[in-house]
Amino acid sequence: MQRTQAMTSVQPDWENFHPRPISEKIPYFSRDGRLYDCLFAQQLNRELLEHLFKTATALKAITRKKDGADHVGNLLSDKRAMLYFVQPSTRTFMSFLNACHILGIKTSEIRDTSTSSEVKGETPEDTVRTFSSYVDMIIMRHPAPGFVEKTAWLMNRTGRPVPIVNGGSGKDQHPTQALLDAYTLYRSFDGELDNKHIVMVGDLKRGRTVRSLSYLMKNYKGVSLSFVSPKEFRMETDILDFLKRHNIPFQETEDFKGVMKTADAIYMTRIQDEHDKSGESKAVDYSPFYFKQEHLKLIKKTCVILHPLPRRHEIEVSVDDDPRAVFWRQERNGMWARAALLAYIFGVDGKIK
Ligand code: CP
Repeated sequence: MQRTQAMTSVQPDWENFHPRPISEKIPYFSRDGRLYDCLFAQQLNRELLEHLFKTATALKAITRKKDGADHVGNLLSDKRAMLYFVQPSTRTFMSFLNACHILGIKTSEIRDTSTSSEVKGETPEDTVRTFSSYVDMIIMRHPAPGFVEKTAWLMNRTGRPVPIVNGGSGKDQHPTQALLDAYTLYRSFDGELDNKHIVMVGDLKRGRTVRSLSYLMKNYKGVSLSFVSPKEFRMETDILDFLKRHNIPFQETEDFKGVMKTADAIYMTRIQDEHDKSGESKAVDYSPFYFKQEHLKLIKKTCVILHPLPRRHEIEVSVDDDPRAVFWRQERNGMWARAALLAYIFGVDGKIK
């Protein structure tokens, strides 16, 4: 792959680079005008999203038959990927692992720093640099916001860069979750994502999925957002400022019942108490932000209910049987959407027809 103009110039120090606006940083994480490191939802424009959605749908269809699965399974059989997931994960890890296997990518993994040489005092930076000696891609989840980006920045300074894919970075971003969420909306609405009212519910302050999905909304016309949360966990102002800059109307409210009636999609989230400093979540009554069986009669017939999962109590289990509950399909969509992304990054997406 040819480096872009930005890559051929001397890359600034991390302290100088990190605070820059994302729009300025995107060229550093691209090659030949294509996305190379997938770090931020802001890297995903409408054209790329549409292409990835179509590729994901094609992958799903082709691999239903053995000859199709064999064709796709050979596309990247010369590649190896490292899954470095040092924060708990079930579906992001599993869907990436299986996305790799669908494409023939061989995988290795670290899921706990106590099993790596970090226990001997090796820095996380040296650890991830070591991976690039052995593999062609690093897919990672890390508790520290900014560390996934730092890894990509670091790799781009080494003589052996490999693409970095963000599987969740602290409270900050989860771009491939936003990709699969948008893919689920695309499938639910027969390809039409414009002019939708999307209601996001729960701990919006500390939920990286709602942050990344809000960024993606800049790609669609006529979208309006309602943020429903306890006052302690309102959406952060950086996202609200982003929406204002892009003329995306939004409201903040605690009246869940009031806004659900006009929703085209309701995106539920759990309380993110792993980010508590001193048990502050325990003081918050989260029950007004639950979706219950009785709410099914209030919402539109065409409304869909999403959740990045895992859930606790915020969606009653009996809701799962309603055809508008799409969260189990949503997690499965993640595997196809992520496989499409990996195929795109390695440039074999054109062979998936
Ligand atoms: N949605 C999501 O990120 O789930 P996991 O934490 O299980 O990967």
